[in-house]
Amino acid sequence: MKGIILHGGHGTRLRPLTHTGPKQLLEIANKPMSQYAVEDMVDAGVKEIAIILGDVFPDKVKEFYGDGSKFGAKITYVYQDKPAGIAHAIGLCKDFVGDDKFAVYLGDNILKGGIKSYAAKFRQSESDALILLCEVKDPSRFGIATVRGEHIEKIVEKPKNPESNLAVIGIYFLTPSIFQIIKNLRPSWRGELEITEALQNLMISGRKIEFGYVTGWWKDTGTPEDILDANRFMLDDVRTDIKGSVESDESLQGRVSVGKGTKILKGSLVRGPVNIGENCQINSGVYIGPYTSVGDNVIIRKGEIEGSIIMSNCEIDTSTRIVDSIIADGSKIIDTPNSSPKGHRFLLGERSQVML
Ligand code: G1P
Repeated sequence: MKGIILHGGHGTRLRPLTHTGPKQLLEIANKPMSQYAVEDMVDAGVKEIAIILGDVFPDKVKEFYGDGSKFGAKITYVYQDKPAGIAHAIGLCKDFVGDDKFAVYLGDNILKGGIKSYAAKFRQSESDALILLCEVKDPSRFGIATVRGEHIEKIVEKPKNPESNLAVIGIYFLTPSIFQIIKNLRPSWRGELEITEALQNLMISGRKIEFGYVTGWWKDTGTPEDILDANRFMLDDVRTDIKGSVESDESLQGRVSVGKGTKILKGSLVRGPVNIGENCQINSGVYIGPYTSVGDNVIIRKGEIEGSIIMSNCEIDTSTRIVDSIIADGSKIIDTPNSSPKGHRFLLGERSQVML
């Protein structure tokens, strides 16, 4: 079985975070979200993977994954020159797939528990597709399936009046039979070749589609709230693992992972689940609360932080409590109590959000 990971899209709802890189490289619990997809594939024995690149910093993706050997995979890259949809992206991989079955993973989807059992099922199966369904609260945001008994009756992309709340998640197991169907697709109202329409047409052409229900947790990380949610869910699995130095055991409560070279100074409190990267410094008096991820080379001189993602190379020195926040690479939040005129000073990128 081969693998395809979609790594394109503009990530407009995640601006300004996506001004400097593709959304799929944003870190969730200190790991780029698409790395979960790569690892899930490798874990399921899918080692030949094509990553579909879009026009948002594709070189950053190539630089990170290289030839895939660091991840136990053989990765090749395919360019999608325009955002023409998931089915279009899959269609570009016809030669790569050859006669094999294949798994498609949208790089902004995260599925807790991975895909191993589904891949094993599909390897044995006679069906032309296996899709995964998950109940959602906002069905008009997703591809939605109508299921009757053991059969899927209908799949519709982002229906205005959804017949069910079963989303077709962004992980699909397919056979080369889909390529002929994709060839005959017409762009949808949003100008894309829709995978959901391809699946619907596959059924109409008499091919069999199996489905499974997601039992654990799944997230499409389209918005900042989704990213924070995904971070919380991923940190639920963090294990205590101390590679750095912790001056006093009293600083750590619950499950905390501390990377190499990181110093947690006496008088600080880190209450897990928390993941702290490498070469950080957490000073005395600092509090890092549950469900916080801190990247590499972060200095926290003063601060209270909870439920947040602080990416690498940030500096924090403030008496303002930071909650439910995403602070991108290289940002600084510092108090300047004696500066005049009095007031907050901002240097914000396009579409930043500040909630004081
Ligand atoms: C895409 C698919 C949709 C699916 C969703 C899962 O939506 O078109 O069918 O339910 O991914 O994440 P999009 O991310 O393009 O809005």
